[in-house]
Amino acid sequence: MSNVKKIKGFADLFSPESDVFTFMENTARDVFSSYGYGELRTPILERTELFCRSIGTETDVVQKEMYTFPDRKNRSLTMRPEATAGVMRAYIEGSLHSQEQVSKLFTFGPMFRYERPQKGRMRQFHQINCECLGPQEPYADAEIILMLLMFLKRIGLSGLELQINSLGCRECRPQYHAALREFLASLDTAELCEDCRRRMETNPLRVLDCKVPRCKELTADAPVILDHTCDACSEHHSVVLGMLERAGVVYTANPRLVRGLDYYNRTTFEVVCGEIGAQSSVAGGGRYDGLVSQLGGPDVPGIGFACGMERLALALEQKAQREVPRPDFLVAVLEQDGLERGMMLAEALRESGLKGEVSFAARSMKSQMRQAGKRNVRKVLLLGGSEIADGTVTVKDMDTGGQTTISLDAAPGAVAD
Ligand code: HAM
Repeated sequence: MSNVKKIKGFADLFSPESDVFTFMENTARDVFSSYGYGELRTPILERTELFCRSIGTETDVVQKEMYTFPDRKNRSLTMRPEATAGVMRAYIEGSLHSQEQVSKLFTFGPMFRYERPQKGRMRQFHQINCECLGPQEPYADAEIILMLLMFLKRIGLSGLELQINSLGCRECRPQYHAALREFLASLDTAELCEDCRRRMETNPLRVLDCKVPRCKELTADAPVILDHTCDACSEHHSVVLGMLERAGVVYTANPRLVRGLDYYNRTTFEVVCGEIGAQSSVAGGGRYDGLVSQLGGPDVPGIGFACGMERLALALEQKAQREVPRPDFLVAVLEQDGLERGMMLAEALRESGLKGEVSFAARSMKSQMRQAGKRNVRKVLLLGGSEIADGTVTVKDMDTGGQTTISLDAAPGAVAD
């Protein structure tokens, strides 16, 4: 019988790659809490209806990418393809709106989309996700973008491209849809891909998001949404941009940035890192006024974003040389009767806040030094025959090569040095 293998598009994450994920999560907690955000953990499985009603039945995510299956009582469940819908459900179910005017929530975790796997695109991937519910003011849009950029800077990614657009609102979008439909009808539609021909009728904005090169070419001169937004949306957008400029943020206006999920209106944005390949969007988000009420909750506006952790890790590999933390010590026991002493010494070192390991079997000096080199340990503590007899330990500094023999009690001080 062959071994059981992992599922295509799913990954195991070993240290030190997993340490990078922990580092990103810890930094995110730190940055987001400084803006008043609190952590929310929602279930991975939700009722399928939640995603259909929020993400939209005309999106690729809902049409082609969800892991959906019946449970034992034949109810349709879906592995969350993104976090926003679940956060909205939790917000409504927990009646957060009646407890506070503004709810700032962040969440981390795995998401699932049945896409074609490639570099930076997985079927199970991880998001760092933030949602700010309550404020309709453009300053909330600016703050969440500034917070995202602060987080990216803190993990070592500054100078990535911020793209921004506005998608208008319920009032002005229909006029834009009409202009876009008129433009699309003037094309030789037989040349558009099958998806776009359908989208033309059902959801024309999606056509602007199509990745097929011929569709991109044909729609290059499509009308621009910002020429069709109402006064309130235009004013909102210019306050957001003005605030970002005031804060020294450089951005690119991208009139085709419509995003792949249907709940957005007004501000939409993405952060792009060209160095990581075709899947270059490391974060994306926007405003979604109307989503909470669409899901049966009160009429509360909101804005949020999500970063893809696998893509951030790729960008970090390219941009920042993150140092892998070095262990402080390796206790290398060379004789069988020194094993218990070695264990006690390692315990005492850890008690004093140092990090390191101890050999569980007496092994040769050569093999222990090889292990210390591989782990990039700072100091090796040797327990050989004479040290065991004298109650001492020899401390070898792996950077200088120097070594001294000291009493066991002096070891924590010598290693911390
Ligand atoms: P999204 O643009 O679909 O937005 O995903 C956000 C980020 O997740 C992307 O920019 C990308 O970095 C990462 N991502 C998406 N799909 C994959 C994949 N298959 N493999 C690896 N990484 C991926 C959302 O999910 C919205 N819920 C964001 C949001 C929050 N909007 C408002 N609040």
